[in-house]
Amino acid sequence: VGDLTEADLKGKKVFVRADLNVPLDDAQKITDDTRIRAAVPTIKYLISKGAKVILSSHLGRPKGVTPKFSLAPLVPRLTELLGIEVVKADDCIGPDVEKLVASLPEGGVLLLENVRFYKEEEKNEPEFAKKLASLADIYVNDAFGTAHRAHASTEGVTKFLKPSVAGFLLQKELDYLVGAVSSPKRPFAAIVGGSKVSSKIGVIESLLEKCDILLLGGGMIFTFYKAQGLSVGSSLVEEDKLELATTLLKKAKAKGVSLLLPTDVIVADKFAPDANSKVVPASAIPDGWMGLDIGPDSVKTFNEALETTKTVIWNGPMGVFEFEKFAAGTESVAKKLAELSGKGVTTIIGGGDSVAAVEKVGVADVMSHISTGGGASLELLEGKELPGVIALDEVLVAV
Ligand code: 3PG
Repeated sequence: VGDLTEADLKGKKVFVRADLNVPLDDAQKITDDTRIRAAVPTIKYLISKGAKVILSSHLGRPKGVTPKFSLAPLVPRLTELLGIEVVKADDCIGPDVEKLVASLPEGGVLLLENVRFYKEEEKNEPEFAKKLASLADIYVNDAFGTAHRAHASTEGVTKFLKPSVAGFLLQKELDYLVGAVSSPKRPFAAIVGGSKVSSKIGVIESLLEKCDILLLGGGMIFTFYKAQGLSVGSSLVEEDKLELATTLLKKAKAKGVSLLLPTDVIVADKFAPDANSKVVPASAIPDGWMGLDIGPDSVKTFNEALETTKTVIWNGPMGVFEFEKFAAGTESVAKKLAELSGKGVTTIIGGGDSVAAVEKVGVADVMSHISTGGGASLELLEGKELPGVIALDEVLVAV
């Protein structure tokens, strides 16, 4: 079996590893249910096929059993979204769980307790993985956000439970972040932002091999400016990455990639939401001022460059968009991508802060794909293999 739709599911116990690692507030209320909603199609499909669903996830980074990291607050939302009563186990292995599994009806869903309550989960201990595996007949990994972790419930379990297949969410993430990026409809533009070049080197290098246009924004641009001999005032600069920035610029040129750096920036006199600010050319950042967003001319140039594209991937904000004064660059990218999406352009939002920006602007629904993974999407865009994916029997990505 290479695919969930090929698996014989009727009456089968199916262990579904999802990433239900959602943010909770102090009152244990879910503040963003995106990951729960993203896990629903696979679970609903299994219910419709008469499978017995054993649902597993981690939440946060608990050290041992910690009540505030219990999955219990997720039960009402899951029940509501699935339209059936979800049963919650107090553990994820052991005799009580086995009893609950034994009494699970076809089309029923049992939510196991946080797998990270056992240190064996992150250590990927085979004995623990074996215990998880013993609960079920089939393994489905739909936890894209955790696919970069070689943990017992994402990787180890596949050694003891066959078939091991991808869920619909995991498959969709791969289709977009690997498939659409590897054989894109062209022109293909990549927009990469974020505060540090060092955390985006892998992504930039990998995308340089594939894209036609590369737009750079965020705090990382000041390292590029400085590498080109410009003064950057007190902007963030990674001194030890100046050479690398020069190499990346040369590489783009050699590959014929049109790499655009912002031509103007919004500078501030301090790193604060109420800082004094002004727009200056990239070549004229005054001493004592720091760049916190791309400027209006850059937004215009970026929008023009994106106009003819057929595929766009975006990872990383253009500025400090948590501060309203410095959010315009990031928000304009979100708006432009929404507009392009409406014209049939494939728009992929590659996780983390860019997803938050797209949601803030209220255009999440119109994008072709919004990744549910932070670290996982970054690793995938860097061209790395994810342990949770390669452990599966077979994953087909149309490229
Ligand atoms: C995430 O939020 O990125 C995933 O759920 C993985 O969580 P982790 O970084 O704690 O492994």
